[in-house]
Amino acid sequence: MKCQYCGKEYIKNSADLSYMPEFMQEKLKYIPACNCLEKLHEQEMEALRKKQDEESRMNRVKKFMDISVVDAKFFKSTFENADMSSKHMRTAERYAKSFLTKNQNVGMLLYGGVGTGKTYATACIANYLREHGKSVFVMNLGLYFNKLKIEWEKEEKAVLENVKKCDLLIIDDFGAEMTSNTENVTWRDEKIFNLIDTAYRSEKPLIISTNLKYHEDLSKCEIEKNLGSRIRDRVVDMCYPIAVIGKSRRGINKETFWESIA
Ligand SMILES: Nc1ncnc2c1ncn2[C@@H]1O[C@H](COP(=O)(O)OP(=O)(O)O)[C@@H](O)[C@H]1O
Ligand SMILES: [Mg+2]
Ligand SMILES: [Zn+2]
Repeated sequence: MKCQYCGKEYIKNSADLSYMPEFMQEKLKYIPACNCLEKLHEQEMEALRKKQDEESRMNRVKKFMDISVVDAKFFKSTFENADMSSKHMRTAERYAKSFLTKNQNVGMLLYGGVGTGKTYATACIANYLREHGKSVFVMNLGLYFNKLKIEWEKEEKAVLENVKKCDLLIIDDFGAEMTSNTENVTWRDEKIFNLIDTAYRSEKPLIISTNLKYHEDLSKCEIEKNLGSRIRDRVVDMCYPIAVIGKSRRGINKETFWESIA
C-alpha cells in the first residue's frame, strides 16, 4: 500500500492494536509514512472556513442593505453608468477603490446645492463597496428620528449597534430634516451626536451628504449654525470636506422636453 498523493509506501504500524476489534486491526496494520492526509484535511477545513467567512460576509452585506433606507432609483447607480465629468464623482470613485486596499477610516463631507448629485455619488460608493463584500449602512436621519419618536430607546440602541458593526456609515441628506422639526433641538442634537460619536469611537468611516453649507469660517458654516460646534467638530474630525458644485440635475431639461413633443 502506498499514499495516493505522494506515492510513499505505507509502513507497518508498531502500535499495540490488540484491544481493537479485528476489522480495525486489519485496517490499521499499515499506516502512511507521510502527512498528506492531515494536510488534505487541513486544506479542506481551511476551504470550509473561507466559505463560511464569505457567506457570513455576504449575509452582513445583505443585512446592511436591508436596514438601509435608500430611494429605489439609486439601486442601479454605478460609476460605470454615471456621468463622471464632475470632480466629486472622480473623487468618489477614487475613494471607493482605495477603500478596498487601504483600511480606510477617513470619511467625506459632500456638501452642495440641491440636485447636484450628492446622493447619487454616495449611492455609487455604496453599490461599489457592496459588490466587493463591504457592509455599508446608509442612514436617513429623518426616518431615524421618526422611528426614535415611537420607540426611541430600543431603536437607538439597535442602530448604534449596527453602526459599530458596519464597514462604512453613510448619512444622506444630513440637515434636511432640520427645517421641518425644530421644536426639540436639544433632543435631536443629542441623537445626532450619539450617532456620529458611535462611529467615531468604533473608528468607522463616515460619509455625509448635506445641503448645509460647510465653511472653515465658523460664522459662515451652516453646520455650525444649525447643529452647534460639538457636532460640527466631530464631523470635520471624521470627514474631509468636498464641495459638490454644479447646477441642479433635477427636473426635466429643456432639450428633453422640446424633443419629446417634437
Ligand atoms: N454623476 C451623475 N451621473 C448621472 N446622473 C446623475 C449624476 N449625479 C446625479 N445624477 C442624477 O441627478 C439627480 C439628482 O441627484 P441627487 O444625487 O439626488 O442630488 P442631491 O442629492 O445632491 O440633491 C438624480 O436623479 C440622479 O440620478
Ligand atoms: Mg440627496
Ligand atoms: Zn503522502
